Amino acid sequence: MTIGIIAAMAEELEILLKDLVLDEKRKKANMAFHKGKLYGKDVVAVVCGIGKVNSAICTQILASEYNVDKVINVGVAGGIGKEIYPGDIVVAENLVQHDMDTTAFGDKMGQIPRLSTFDFKCDEEMINLAKKACEEISEINSFTGRIVSGDQFVANIEKIKWLEKEFGAISCEMEGASIAQVCYLNSIPFVVIRSISDNANNGAHMDYEKFTPIAVKNSTRILNKMLNLM
Ligand code: ADE
Repeated sequence: MTIGIIAAMAEELEILLKDLVLDEKRKKANMAFHKGKLYGKDVVAVVCGIGKVNSAICTQILASEYNVDKVINVGVAGGIGKEIYPGDIVVAENLVQHDMDTTAFGDKMGQIPRLSTFDFKCDEEMINLAKKACEEISEINSFTGRIVSGDQFVANIEKIKWLEKEFGAISCEMEGASIAQVCYLNSIPFVVIRSISDNANNGAHMDYEKFTPIAVKNSTRILNKMLNLM
């Protein structure tokens, strides 16, 4: 079994790549695919770049050229709601692309037209393993629910209120739901595990700079535990 591990930014994969026993590194679509062993598991780890197009291309390469059996997306995200703080972990139950808009045709906001699903559901077994990993690291708070993705760094209180009301989202980021769509189309089980770097409100970019290092540390710790449980 080979697991594809995707992060959007180099700093999100940095700690993990230090632990990877590298077999082969290949560049495709300007992305470096690191094939090797991580905590005893066969993995292909890759930094895909920011946004839905980069992450979709990357996931399709993992599917078509590396035949990965499962995909895990890790990294940071904006927290939605009063109870969620930087450093907390969110495990996605399902994902929606919040910027997909064909409401002019009567579709719901977020619905990808002519696709037979509204949200992309993460693999139940992988969700449970991620949740178990979170439980075993008791000093890190964790949440499970819907993550929404769009090509936008959300830094606006009105927008997060809307994301919460429209989608019931607990977190927002820029890649998860497109990775999820590619996995859905290729029938690959996947899960998205993110750590909160900011609260997606006014000034989020400053919190993001401050809290990303601790958020990355936490999501890497959870991934480490999860791979050990797999
Ligand atoms: N990733 C981390 N914080 C984010 C935010 N506020 N909006 C979108 N993606 C993010």
